[in-house]
Amino acid sequence: MKGIVLAGGSGTRLHPITQAVSKQLLPLYDKPMVYHPLSVLMLAGIREILVISTPEDLPRFERLLGTGEQFGLSLTYAPQPRPNGIAEAFVIGADHIGDDPVALILGDNLFHGPDFSPLLRRKASEVDGCVLFGHAVDEPSRYGVAELDDDGRLVSIEEKPAVPRSDLAVTGLYFYANDVVDLAKNLTPSARGELEITDVNAAYVERGTAELVRLGRGFAWLDTGTPDSLLEAARYVQVLEHRTGVRIGCLEEVALRMGFIDADACRRLGERMGGSPYGAYVRAVAGDHPNTNPGRPERPAPDSARTSRPGPS
Ligand code: G1P
Repeated sequence: MKGIVLAGGSGTRLHPITQAVSKQLLPLYDKPMVYHPLSVLMLAGIREILVISTPEDLPRFERLLGTGEQFGLSLTYAPQPRPNGIAEAFVIGADHIGDDPVALILGDNLFHGPDFSPLLRRKASEVDGCVLFGHAVDEPSRYGVAELDDDGRLVSIEEKPAVPRSDLAVTGLYFYANDVVDLAKNLTPSARGELEITDVNAAYVERGTAELVRLGRGFAWLDTGTPDSLLEAARYVQVLEHRTGVRIGCLEEVALRMGFIDADACRRLGERMGGSPYGAYVRAVAGDHPNTNPGRPERPAPDSARTSRPGPS
């Protein structure tokens, strides 16, 4: 399965914060926001990932993430010149996707919960049509909203409905079979001129090949589109990391635990970050870990495995 991180948009709801820097490069406490969606694709076992952003912002993502080799990934980059909608990612990414299924994640979504990696890997391996991930929210009218029947089957999806049929938001993580590329190429732009991801999903619902996986109560899903949600997401990361000593969305740690890099490579990445507490954490993670070779069977996911604290920074 190939991966796409969509980190476009002008972030107008966050102006002036995002006037000079992309929203998805803003810090969520100790790391750039885009680390979180990238780590989700990695936890799904995906290593070939396309990052899409605006032509202005794309070089900054490249500066931050490079070729991805340091994380055992292959990262490529493509511009989305105009905000033509989320589903345009499949048109821009058609060559990258090739003949494979694809996972798309929005660059401003943060997911955190128990046993996420096994769930993602299972769903990624069995996608036939589309797999969506739903989460109950307080204000569903801000999102795509899913309606399920009594047997838990998906019966409708509506984008930002004034009168939501449920409290179940469709999160910004989507798995698709390869036919999503053709579907996206043949979409008609909506009234606001965008290729809507909800229209893609509704087409799979109509064909009877859309599945919605409900992320339960112990699961956190946060987005960062407003100053309040941005601050809340940063606080969430801070509180969790302070309390447990475990960092979330740490790409070096995920790469190590997934077996994409070995402990020596992880240590070197930590050393490159000099005196920052994040760098010290990466070095401690490498030190704690039995040495692994890339390509070996996957290790437990960081969200369920690690309880010990890293050494002092
Ligand atoms: C987009 C999608 C929406 C989805 C949301 C998840 O909305 O259009 O269906 O629920 O992402 O973050 P946007 O954030 O672009 O308003």
